[in-house]
Amino acid sequence: MRIEGKEYRTIWFENNFVKIIDQTKLPHNFIIKELKTLDEAVVAIKTMEVRGAPLIGATAAYGIVLAVKENNDLDFIKKSSEKLVNARPTAINLEWAVNRMNNKLSFVNPKDLFDVALKEADEICNEDINFCKNIGLNGLNIIEEIYNKKKNTVNILTHCNAGWLATINWGTATSPIYHAYKKGIPVHVWVDETRPRNQGANLTSFELNEEGIPNTIITDNTGGILMQRGEVDLCIVGTDRTLSTGDVCNKIGTYLKALAAHDNNVPFYVALPSSTIDWETKDYNKIPIEERNTEELSYIEGKDDKNNISKVLIYPKKSKSMNLAFDITPAKYVTGLITEKGVCEASTNGLKKMFER
Ligand code: MRU
Repeated sequence: MRIEGKEYRTIWFENNFVKIIDQTKLPHNFIIKELKTLDEAVVAIKTMEVRGAPLIGATAAYGIVLAVKENNDLDFIKKSSEKLVNARPTAINLEWAVNRMNNKLSFVNPKDLFDVALKEADEICNEDINFCKNIGLNGLNIIEEIYNKKKNTVNILTHCNAGWLATINWGTATSPIYHAYKKGIPVHVWVDETRPRNQGANLTSFELNEEGIPNTIITDNTGGILMQRGEVDLCIVGTDRTLSTGDVCNKIGTYLKALAAHDNNVPFYVALPSSTIDWETKDYNKIPIEERNTEELSYIEGKDDKNNISKVLIYPKKSKSMNLAFDITPAKYVTGLITEKGVCEASTNGLKKMFER
């Protein structure tokens, strides 16, 4: 998708290094950063220079490429894989991508390891672009159906960033929106700010603006009253891990939106590529929920009148705080899962049928 009219993807390999858009600098500064080593890839994931489940997976895949470049000894690759998987615990794509890379590399002649690793990492990215495009086409039908009944702007609420910046291109939750807009359907997006890292305000609103899509940033607590007033036609969110039971783990605050949607008969869809499905875990209490540094809450970063980016403390120094990064939305609150294969029920049956498992 575009930034200042120029097409980008979020990650690519060029001149022997991995290139990323440093998302900690958006929306005020657009900076392309080079990752030269495995450790730089791990830091990029940990500090959220890259974020969003599919993009974290892709970065881990390229992290393995960088590891192979540094030292193609199998022991080093194994240790590198562990470092990558431990960088962030909740998004399943990370482990999925690292396992896929290791499986691919397991019987390869050492002299071919780099070429095979790079080809597979590129393949993971190209596959994700295709999947996200198809999620868009499948989700477009839902938006179109609402538009055909309403004959007026379709208002869609989203939480966090499940846009192209969270994937390689198109996004998951935003892909149906981009496809609807391209088809001429009038859409407007309610963008949850998404405290504490403000992915909604800093990333989702930013990328929608760049594509010319009308959107309004709201605080994380505003969605409920908008739904009561009939100002939300549907919600579409992303996910970091979807269990085979249809339970969905996503950015903290998603659950409360789903409850409000349920109470107000607003359809609540979750968009995901199959790489985000955890087929093993059955009990959502077993999902590792990331707990991040509380400074993400007590400090806020922004641009002052003199165009300087600075960080200020907004909490009382003595106060304790807590920063859980994800929550669970039980399947019963999910209207449907929008996948690359089609839209299915959020249930074991729905997912089994869709993916023939
Ligand atoms: O902490 P983040 O910014 O990595 O969390 C991102 C999300 O929760 C997204 O909603 C999710 O990864 C969906 S990605 C298309």
